[in-house]
Amino acid sequence: MKLSDRLSKVKSSPTLAITAKAKAMKAEGIDVISFGAGEPDFDTPDFVKEAAIKALHDGATKYTDVSGMPELRDALTSYFLETEGLEYKRSETIFSVGGKHSLYNAFMALLSPGDEVIIPSPYWVSYPEMVTLAEGVPVILETKEEDGFLFTAGELAAKVTKKTKAIVINTPSNPSGAVYSEETLKAICEVAVKNEIFVIWDEIYKDVYYGEGRLRSLPFYDPAVKPYTLIISGFSKNFSMTGWRLGYTLADERIIKGMSVIQGQSTSNPTSFAQYGALAALQKGPLHLTEWLKQFKARRDALLAGFENMQGVTSLKPEGAFYVFPNISGLFGKKWRGEALKDSYDVTKFLLEEARVAVTPGDPFGSPGNIRMSYALSMEELLNGIDRMNNAVASLD
Ligand SMILES: Cc1ncc(COP(=O)(O)O)c(C=O)c1O
Repeated sequence: MKLSDRLSKVKSSPTLAITAKAKAMKAEGIDVISFGAGEPDFDTPDFVKEAAIKALHDGATKYTDVSGMPELRDALTSYFLETEGLEYKRSETIFSVGGKHSLYNAFMALLSPGDEVIIPSPYWVSYPEMVTLAEGVPVILETKEEDGFLFTAGELAAKVTKKTKAIVINTPSNPSGAVYSEETLKAICEVAVKNEIFVIWDEIYKDVYYGEGRLRSLPFYDPAVKPYTLIISGFSKNFSMTGWRLGYTLADERIIKGMSVIQGQSTSNPTSFAQYGALAALQKGPLHLTEWLKQFKARRDALLAGFENMQGVTSLKPEGAFYVFPNISGLFGKKWRGEALKDSYDVTKFLLEEARVAVTPGDPFGSPGNIRMSYALSMEELLNGIDRMNNAVASLD
């Protein structure tokens, strides 16, 4: 029997696939070093776990409001007022089953068939697929490595058509770690406001930043963009709560209502006791990050140093998130087992089989000359992995 046509239009997640493959190889006893993880290797802070455990013991095991518990939604508005100086009402917030679910509901609520969504490349693999699932049309705005994988407001304006409904901005970026400057963001806001297009502002890596000062939410840079902005984030990266599945959106009430209708007819509320963990997280804030960032930064720098003597591999210096996105196009044409490596999939296969190192190919991120390497692994493993890569690359003909 034939299944939905929809299935032929979307691809499964290659990042989840590579993590699963590395895990399966490890389970078979093969010594694989994985640079595939999209999650921090640190544990969820104890105070968050304890809040959820207490909630379970106290009987918080039933449905909550579809959009999340009122006290959690209020904690979110207080958090944004305190940290960003941005005012949101409870009715302008919704909690979903991970940032991914927040994004999915957002596209479902915003898009009508044929609506265009501008997605800068390299992009997180799920954006184009989600837009397609919501019957929208992904319009890729290509950025160049020599421009730091960043686009300008002029390049954005050139992609806007009458059908443009939204643009996605993810900064710091997965996969490139690139961060937009305040000046560029202000210019982007002007384009969005002038053309009345929504900005899906994915700030899931906002706190994972190695530069001076701290990064802010988009409407902080230009209040005029607030009615057009959907701030989307969650607890996966800054609190290492990937398995808890909690994300949130702050946006205009009409959009939140739409997302709540979709959520109410699909998942209902995110897990009740997980919400108590999130409540504790918002009340205390990500104080643990100072230590995590110190370790992440040291690992990033060790990886970049490792590429310095690796023939055919170069890398920009990412300013945020926990990925490097090296250019491996210098390996194309080199021979492994008698065959020329021709794309990022070949390089990924070569590294897995020859070096026992798992990385993610750049193709599904819209960047065929690169691979993504997460540095959410111990320094010891990382250095070992770099050594293995070096030896494998040096052995190519
Ligand atoms: C750019 C980006 N946005 C959103 C998410 C969603 O994270 P989660 O659903 O775990 O909250 C991820 C996860 O990898 C991501 O990389």
